[in-house]
This record gives sequence, structure tokens and C-alpha cells, in this order.
Amino acid sequence: MAKKFPELVFSGVQPTGSLHLGNYLGALKRFVEMQATHDCLYCVVDLHAMTMPHDPAQLREATRAVAAAYLACGIDPKRNIVFNQSRVAEHAELTWVLNCVARVGWLNRMTQFKEKAGKDRENASAGLYDYPVLMAADILVYRATHVPVGEDQKQHLELARDIAQKFNNDFAASIAEHGHGDAFFPLPEPLIQGPATRVMSLRDGTKKMSKSDASEFASIGLTDDDDAIAQKIRRAKTDPEPLPSEAAGLKGRPEADNLVGIFAALNDETKDSVLRQFGGGQFSTFKAALADLTVAKLAPIRAEILRLRADSGEIDRVLADGAERARAIARPIMDQAKDVLGLIR
Ligand code: TYM
Repeated sequence: MAKKFPELVFSGVQPTGSLHLGNYLGALKRFVEMQATHDCLYCVVDLHAMTMPHDPAQLREATRAVAAAYLACGIDPKRNIVFNQSRVAEHAELTWVLNCVARVGWLNRMTQFKEKAGKDRENASAGLYDYPVLMAADILVYRATHVPVGEDQKQHLELARDIAQKFNNDFAASIAEHGHGDAFFPLPEPLIQGPATRVMSLRDGTKKMSKSDASEFASIGLTDDDDAIAQKIRRAKTDPEPLPSEAAGLKGRPEADNLVGIFAALNDETKDSVLRQFGGGQFSTFKAALADLTVAKLAPIRAEILRLRADSGEIDRVLADGAERARAIARPIMDQAKDVLGLIR
């Protein structure tokens, strides 16, 4: 019978650029929901942020900014573990082990690498190529079982499962011999749920809302002021038809689908129930309601982010405490892995 691992949640956000509504609805809001039912580790993945050219001073500030956003959204750092990745050396240590398990053919299939490396692939950092292996190590070094993420991380999560499975197979005899039964690592499950797992650009409903979009009107930042939020929603691209009366009618209408999904996610309802209220109506009415809702939900988060950012003492204490608690989980697992692998310690 397959071994059962205790449920544990892990997820991470990169400290690159400023966080947007997609990060909030696809990830942070879900992180907050998970803490009611699970033990959770929420990481600021600063080592991942180094895979593209980076500025040291900006990385430091962005790391604090992501931690501030975690807390401002409602993550309780006492009940959960909030920390920055580079402080817990076991992430990098396990990455080396998993590099020797993962296959080059698997990494070659990663679409995010292809997108980020662009045309000049020869000149991409080796770290960018290896990015998904570090991500697998982030999760597996705690034996985390559940990973809330947006849709764009699905392929990376599948890779993490493949790596865990291969490790379990390759070292099955040693794993059993060392008392770990038939599995050393769990196969982590992605949790990609809700109406906003892939929030799209407000300027183009076929493109993902992203930190790197050139148009400032494409995304809503977590620290945007009320006017900016309202203006961006007012100017969001739509189509000439009135809103449909049920979610099925959003098919082939990416901009409408996106705005309805954002409304549903912010208000904790389904697209169908949003459309029961707004179906048949014009976009102008719906957009006004969406702007009010977005402002109402984001304004308190923005205020708390700004408060926390004004004095980094509190954030720095949270990160230091979180790292210590994270290490206390990761170190014994890393040591057990070394024993299984035949590495003398
Ligand atoms: P990152 O920093 O790009 O994004 C953080 C989280 O936000 C989600 N997300 C979105 N969700 C919905 N709509 C969007 N437009 C949107 N854009 C981003 C992402 O899916 C993610 O959940 N590789 C990860 C960070 C990471 C990680 C991990 C995650 C490193 N190690 C281990 C989980 C487990 C990343 O770059 O996320």
C-alpha cells in the first residue's frame, strides 16, 4: 500500500517586480484560505529571482515587499512559516541531489524556460534552466503534500511529482532499508482551484497578467491607489456584446470571461452567480461594480503593505523566525536523504 504522508502545504512567490491581482487571486488569497485547515509554509523564493539578471538592492527590497504582501493579505506568521528561501540552505542542497535525478529531456520540455529565455537561449543562465528543479526541492525538502498555485505553475508541479517518483523508484531498496517504507517523498498535489487560476491582462484577454507586461494598464498592482484601480478597470478591453446570463456564454470571449472571473474570485462566488446578477447588462454597469469591489478588497491590503514597508523591522523578524522553523523541518529530511543516498555525514 502506498505510504501516506501527513498533509502539509508549501508555496512560494518570486520577489521580482511588484505583485499584481493575478498573484493575489491565483496564489495569496488561496494561501490565506489554506491556513484555516493546514500547516503551511509560505516562502519568498529569492534564489529563483536570481535566475534572470537582478539588482541586489532591488532583490532585498522586493523580498521584503513579498513578505509584507503575505502578511497584509492575512497570512498569520505565527500559525504558518513565512521565510525567504536563501536562508534555508537545504533548498539548494536538495536541488543538487534532485539535479542528479531529473532528466535533461524533462527540463527541455518546460515551456516557462522557453518563454523566459526567449530567442537567445544560449545566453540564458544555467539557473533559469534548472529553475524547476529548485522548485521541486522547495516542496520536497519539507515533504509538502499540497501546493496552491496559479495555472501557469502546473507543468512545474508535474515535474516535481516526476522527480519525487523517480527518486522513490531509483532508491527503493535503500529507502526501505532505512525505514522509510515504499516512498521517501510524497508526490505533491497542485491545488489550482477557483474562478481565477489564470488572470489575464486587462489589455489582451489572451495574455496572462504578468509582472513584466510593458503596459501599466495591463495589470492591477497590489499597491495601486483607488483611482488607478478604477481607471484601469474602466479602460479594460471588452467586446461589443452584452454580458451573457451564464458562464457557458463566456466561451470565445476572453476579456469578458476574465473580468467576470476576477469579480467571482474577489467576491467568493461563481461566474454563474455573478452573471445571474449582471447577465444581459452593459459592460459599463458591470465595470463600475467591479471597480468598487476591487477597491474595497485591495485598499485594506495596500494600507497594510505600506504600513509594514515603512519599517522593515517587523518583516525582518518574521523572516528570521520563519527561516529557523523551516530549517528545523528541512534539516532532518535532508539528513535522511543523505543516508538513503550513501552520502556520509
Ligand atoms: P510567481 O512568483 O511567478 O507567481 C506567484 C504565484 O502567482 C501565480 N500567478 C498567477 N495566478 C493567476 N493568474 C495570473 N496571471 C498569475 N500570475 C502568477 C503563480 O501561479 C504562483 O502561484 N515558480 C513560482 C514560485 C515558486 C513556487 C515554488 C511555487 C518557487 N518555488 C514552490 C510553489 C511551490 C513562480 O515563479 O511564481
